[in-house]
Amino acid sequence: MVKGIKSGSRVLAVRVKKVAGRSVSSTRWLQRQLNDPYVHEAHKVGYRSRAAFKLRQLDDQYHFLKSGQKIVDLGAAPGGWTQVAVERGCKVLAVDLIDMPAIEGARFLQMDFSQPDAPQKLLQEIGSKVQVVLSDMAPNTTGHLGTDHLRIMALAEMAYDFAKQILAPGGTFLVKLRQGGAQQSLLAILKHDFGQVRHVKPPASRPDSSELYLLALKFKSIETKK
Ligand SMILES: C[S@@+](CC[C@H](N)C(=O)[O-])C[C@H]1O[C@@H](n2cnc3c(N)ncnc32)[C@H](O)[C@@H]1O
Repeated sequence: MVKGIKSGSRVLAVRVKKVAGRSVSSTRWLQRQLNDPYVHEAHKVGYRSRAAFKLRQLDDQYHFLKSGQKIVDLGAAPGGWTQVAVERGCKVLAVDLIDMPAIEGARFLQMDFSQPDAPQKLLQEIGSKVQVVLSDMAPNTTGHLGTDHLRIMALAEMAYDFAKQILAPGGTFLVKLRQGGAQQSLLAILKHDFGQVRHVKPPASRPDSSELYLLALKFKSIETKK
């Protein structure tokens, strides 16, 4: 937990007035942002997103980011996770659909990872094994839980198809999901391919969100999997 920050236990400090032309959902979003301690803390310490705290909390607990490691950060914009990984000494290749201002110590590639040729292009670009693949990729939500679950699962499965080709033995795969029934097949595959797999929801992940992460540690080499 970030020092001085308690998630989900605060009384609202700022109330946003309804104004003509702003939808109820935008007003709710604005109110939540203004009252979110992680948003304030991210602003204070110079993180580009509150999401940075999710990776920081997970790594503080499971210690998978090590200085000198090569890592790929899929769905990196605006760059919070990349900042944390660079801070911890990793060499990061960050990828996103949308542009991301440069971060010292990281390389950025703008691409739609869901395009059929994207994983292959990325493999060629990287050219060697990496120790960690992170995916915080999330398509825009539709508000329909089942649809949002299936859309994020499709990206998660693509991320793992890519990760298994590039991870070094012992490597780590961390991927964002949304709760729902379609995660069982990915979970089964990860349990086969890694020494340890767990569902994780860091304190900075909003308790009322269906978001959760799968953290797979100790990737088995091709030889040990046979
Ligand atoms: C939750 S945000 C990531 C936040 C980021 N981890 C951070 O710490 O700032 C999800 C990102 O996934 C990206 N994304 C969604 N679909 C994608 C795709 N098909 N290819 C690449 N990036 C994608 C979005 O553009 C968005 O920037």
